[in-house]
Amino acid sequence: MAPHSFPAFALLLPAVLVLVAFAAISARASVATIMPSPAPAVEGSGFLHACCANTTNASTCYDSLLPHAGSFHGNRVLVARAAANLAFTRLRSFREGLRRLPPGATGGGRIVDRALQLCVSSAEVSLLREGDALAVIQRLETAAGRGRREQAESDLNTANLYVGGIGPCVTSCVDDVESIGDAGRAALASPVGKKVLAWVANVRLHGDIALDLVVQSEPEYVVQSEPE
Ligand SMILES: *[C@@H]1O[C@H](CO)[C@@H](O)[C@H](O)[C@H]1NC(C)=O
Ligand SMILES: *[C@@H]1O[C@H](CO)[C@@H](O)[C@H](O)[C@H]1NC(C)=O
Repeated sequence: MAPHSFPAFALLLPAVLVLVAFAAISARASVATIMPSPAPAVEGSGFLHACCANTTNASTCYDSLLPHAGSFHGNRVLVARAAANLAFTRLRSFREGLRRLPPGATGGGRIVDRALQLCVSSAEVSLLREGDALAVIQRLETAAGRGRREQAESDLNTANLYVGGIGPCVTSCVDDVESIGDAGRAALASPVGKKVLAWVANVRLHGDIALDLVVQSEPEYVVQSEPE
């Protein structure tokens, strides 16, 4: 009997382990179904939530950066950089959208078309700063580790200037069209004009959020800087 009982037990043991594991999994599953989870367990989402809390629009900030939440590692400079990247991307879409409008799309005549072309040009000027803006924000991260305070302050000023220029760039575009007078206002009230205004609001929103995050990333390196 004994030689037969051992193999029987050996066969039974994995089955018991599987059953135990299964019981544990189903216990977890039933707990999960009874208790609705408050938020998706995305890595870094709590930190992102805290970073976004004090921005122009906390929910847009959080939702738009959530796909990158796992890459921030508790570093506000990295959040600011991702937000700046996103804001410049929105500005690029704005420029592309305006470029694709056929002449007379707003029904506002040549003077409105010319104003919209100027918006494309000023978006281009702003976009020329994208590389430098992202580079200085990136450098703020390394400056933090090395404690180079002056370099960090100069980089922060540059980042403020370049990222802070995104919103005003598109807002001044609307102001210029409006300043044409009745024709400008009528153009903005047209279906195409409303689309342009929606693009402007979107770029402005992401530009403002990015600027807030750049400003709020300051303690990240100031605290770590060498005393003077
Ligand atoms: C939010 O911003 C205000 C004003 O800028 C500041 O006084 C406050 O400390 C900030 N709070 C957090 C949690 O960063
Ligand atoms: C934040 O932005 C979204 C999208 O534009 C908007 O629907 C919402 O009302 C805004 N929230 C606040 C508090 O401004």
